[in-house]
Amino acid sequence: MRILIVGSGAREHAIARALASESTHHDLVVAPGNAGIASLARVEPVTATDPEAVVELAGRLGAELVVIGPEAPLVAGVADALRERGIPVFGPSRDAAALEGSKAFAKRIMAAAGVPTGRAVDVLTADALDAALDTTGSPYVVKADGLAAGKGVLVTEDRAAARAHALRWLEAGPVLLEEFLRGREVSLFFISDGTIALPLSPAQDFKRLEDGDAGPNTGGMGAYSPLPWLAEAFGSQEAFVDQIRTTVAEPVIARLAAEGIPFQGLLYCGLVVDGASVKVIEFNARFGDPETQVVLPRLASPLSALLRGAAIGSLADVPAPTFVAEAAVGVVMASAGYPGTPELGAAIAGLDAADALDGVHVDHAATAVDGTDIVTTGGRVLTVVGLGLDVEVARTAAYEGIGLIRFPGAHRRSDIAEGIA
Ligand code: AMP
Ligand code: GLY
Repeated sequence: MRILIVGSGAREHAIARALASESTHHDLVVAPGNAGIASLARVEPVTATDPEAVVELAGRLGAELVVIGPEAPLVAGVADALRERGIPVFGPSRDAAALEGSKAFAKRIMAAAGVPTGRAVDVLTADALDAALDTTGSPYVVKADGLAAGKGVLVTEDRAAARAHALRWLEAGPVLLEEFLRGREVSLFFISDGTIALPLSPAQDFKRLEDGDAGPNTGGMGAYSPLPWLAEAFGSQEAFVDQIRTTVAEPVIARLAAEGIPFQGLLYCGLVVDGASVKVIEFNARFGDPETQVVLPRLASPLSALLRGAAIGSLADVPAPTFVAEAAVGVVMASAGYPGTPELGAAIAGLDAADALDGVHVDHAATAVDGTDIVTTGGRVLTVVGLGLDVEVARTAAYEGIGLIRFPGAHRRSDIAEGIA
């Protein structure tokens, strides 16, 4: 199949890697891609958020499937434009992507679908802020309503900081104050064709910048899959996945369909698990990053069948995905300054040595070729992935890889997946 993947991060590298590893050959093009992706697929320039540019590229390539990686093109209506031209696309419409693009919309759909989530108060004006802070109490969870590239959420016990964050984001639109949810975070992905939801394997993402979950929120500093500890409260990981399918994914997909906005793409359920209680913290409308880098290497069945089945509405004919028992651990290497303004242009050493290790591969997030060097072009630069018989073995492999890679200002957490059985 000729497949166009839109995006340029480690998630898109992982998607391309999974498609390239299938026994069936695919003609893969990634736009705009990066230096690492270029080693396994053709890369083409494109403005990913420009619907007409993506339609033009897909038409020129004769793409039989377009896979949209990041959220911004979805919210910009890129999937709608492709669908209008009859090009099969994995990625929801602009209206369905509001599940990620508007926290207020997501809350309304969850309420209508009876999906468990934290209590929340909508704040539309500065005058309403203090009363809302009193209602939810400390720790305060303040969320910008719209897309904010991971910067819209602040969790803090400091009321003045919560107020300041809310006031800043109120300039851009509504703000949500949410009940603080205690527990472990789990990311669970479902592939949907608008009717059916097929689960992938769960992962845990580490959102904070520093070891011990300290420091500011980031896009994600590392992840692992599977989650052996889910068996304690749920009997097995499979039982957990089944519970989320029936209590979260299917009701949300059905509710959206009933409202005339079928969700064709990836429903990312961000969950908080506390004992046997599960609540939804957020939805995303695309694969998670860095979770994808640890989920897809474990996928044993072909990814292309799932993506195309979702795109053309025929998931009923696609067998449920299967996963190997082996574990994957991914550790993000970031630039100096991230998650603030990153320093760019640093030359990266040791990539080939890390990739050559047994059970290690490197997904590039923000890299470009500059002469004979590969240089950094963004905040999160690489996800170094280790695979192994269990989480501990995979973790050791990932950190062996990390140990071989150097660039000025590089930083990463040292406790990703630490102490997981
Ligand atoms: P979100 O963009 O909604 O995923 O929020 C980013 C991160 O903030 C989440 O991954 C959590 O770590 C944290 N967070 C968001 N909402 C809550 C909540 N209600 N309670 C506790 N932590 C939260
Ligand atoms: N890792 C969190 C996200 O993809 O939104």
